[in-house]
Amino acid sequence: MLSVGQIITKATCRGNGASQPSRRIAAGDQFYPQNIFSDSMNNFEDLRKEYESQGLDRGDLHDDPMQQFDVWFRDAVQHTPGKWYEPNAVTLSTSQDGMVTSRTVLLKDYDEHHLVFFTHYESEKGRQLTANPQASLLFHWHFLGRQIRVVGDVAKTSREMSEEYFHKRPRGAQLSASASAQSTVLESREQLQRVRNELEQTYAGVDIPLPENWGGFGLRPVRFEFWQGRVNRMHDRFQYTRPDNDDPWDIVRLAP
Ligand SMILES: Cc1cc2nc3c(=O)[nH]c(=O)nc-3n(C[C@H](O)[C@H](O)[C@H](O)COP(=O)(O)O)c2cc1C
Repeated sequence: MLSVGQIITKATCRGNGASQPSRRIAAGDQFYPQNIFSDSMNNFEDLRKEYESQGLDRGDLHDDPMQQFDVWFRDAVQHTPGKWYEPNAVTLSTSQDGMVTSRTVLLKDYDEHHLVFFTHYESEKGRQLTANPQASLLFHWHFLGRQIRVVGDVAKTSREMSEEYFHKRPRGAQLSASASAQSTVLESREQLQRVRNELEQTYAGVDIPLPENWGGFGLRPVRFEFWQGRVNRMHDRFQYTRPDNDDPWDIVRLAP
C-alpha cells in the first residue's frame, strides 16, 4: 500500500516559508500518481456530482463586484447547512520567491473596497504578505455550487481596527492569540500551554493588550471571478477586472 507521500516521486516540498525547499521540481518533470484511492472502499467516480442551479447571466450581475460579493455572501450565510459550518471560511493564498502557500482564514469584515481577515503578522502568511503584498482569496460554498475567486493587493488594517476586533474576541481566544508565535516550531503542546497560563496570570482582572504582531489585513480586489456550477460541467464564470482603481469594472464571461 502506498502512502500519499509516495505519490510525489520527483519533488519534495517543505512548507515553512522561512527556508527554501532543498529540492525543486524542474520544468518538464512529471509526477506518477498511483491510483491508491480507488482500490479501497471508495472511488473518485463515486464522488462525482452534478451541479444543478439556475445558472448565472450577465444580467444577474451587479456592475460592482463588491456588491455582487455582498449578495452571494449573504446567500451563503442564509443557506449555510448548519451551525458547524463557517461560510466566512476562505482559502488565502500568498507567495514569496516563487513558492505559493494556502491556508484557511476567516473573513471578518468587508466594505465596498476591502475584504478583511486577522492573523499573526510574523506567521508564514504574515511574512509573505509583508514581502509580497498580493494575495488570492477563494470562497467555496458547495451547498450553493458557487465559488468566488478574488485577487488583490494587501495592506495591514489600522492598529485601531485591529484593537477593536481583538477586544471583541472571547477572552480565551485573545489569550491564545497572545501566547502563540504562529507558525514557529513548538517543543510540545505544554510549552504553549505554559505561556498561555503565564499570560492568564499576568492579565488576571485586566484587559489583554493587543499583541504587537497581531492584527488585520485588508485585501483590495483587482480581479474577481464568480463561478456558478451547472449540469454537465457547463458552468458559468464571470470575471471582473479594471485597469486602475478608479476605472469602471470590465466584466467578461469565461469558458468553464
Ligand atoms: C476554519 C479555519 C479558520 C481559520 N481562521 C484563521 C484566521 O482567521 N486567522 C489565522 O491566522 N489563522 C486561521 N486559521 C489557521 C490557519 O489556517 C493557519 O493554520 C495559520 O494561520 C497558520 O498559517 P501560516 O503558517 O500559513 O501563516 C484557521 C483555520 C481553519 C481550519
